[in-house]
Amino acid sequence: MARTRRPLIAGNWKMNGLKADALVLAKGVADGVKQAGWTDRDLLVCPPATLVMAVAEAVKGSTVLVGGQDCHAKPSGAHTGEIAAEMLRDCGASYVIVGHSERRADCGETDAVIRAKAEAAWRAGLVPIVCIGETLAEREAGMTFSVLATQLKGSVPAGASAVRLVVAYEPVWAIGTGKTPTTAEVAAAHAHIRKVLDGLVADAVDVRLLYGGSVKAGNAAELLAAGDVDGALVGGASLKADEFLAIAKAV
Ligand code: PGA
Repeated sequence: MARTRRPLIAGNWKMNGLKADALVLAKGVADGVKQAGWTDRDLLVCPPATLVMAVAEAVKGSTVLVGGQDCHAKPSGAHTGEIAAEMLRDCGASYVIVGHSERRADCGETDAVIRAKAEAAWRAGLVPIVCIGETLAEREAGMTFSVLATQLKGSVPAGASAVRLVVAYEPVWAIGTGKTPTTAEVAAAHAHIRKVLDGLVADAVDVRLLYGGSVKAGNAAELLAAGDVDGALVGGASLKADEFLAIAKAV
């Protein structure tokens, strides 16, 4: 089947970056994208919320997209310290990561919470990147596929379609550890995810599925070539423009 899904390389900066360095990084990515002249792939950077506006400004005039790392389910109200999807949109974001395993673990986010956040993203005109992934214990217990199915069914809202949904498969044990699944394991997980999505999304075949977890320039080509992988969600390696661009080049 001809590949119709446009690759997406997303950088999750996590809780890293003060303004000066973040702007250098954002400009470095924007300049690199301009130089490369890519028209066949999307690059997205997701800085901390404090920097979304400045980064959006810094990449203006390039095709680099900007996203948030999380949002609240409500559009406004008495939720001290929280950030609404509408606020991210207002700052220039077009995507938002929801359900990252660090938030599932650190903040106790459940599938239901994540689904509400994905709906909030839609309400604000953002595309949610819904993250799912098994822990090492779950993998070793042979539960990977059932965990992925449960997380997908719980966190992808009804009414999802390929233009307004991205799914990121991030095995928890591969995040920030330097460990990655084999390409066969990635391909198997992605094929399973697409099969589960088939019952949830009308055009599941067109939904972009990203792999995330210790992606770097050195392993990107291999991981991105695995079946059903339409891009990457990159943490640590997205904090250096050259490394992030090298990953994008590997598409
Ligand atoms: P990593 O993080 O690339 O540093 O492993 C990936 C992620 O958490 O999205």
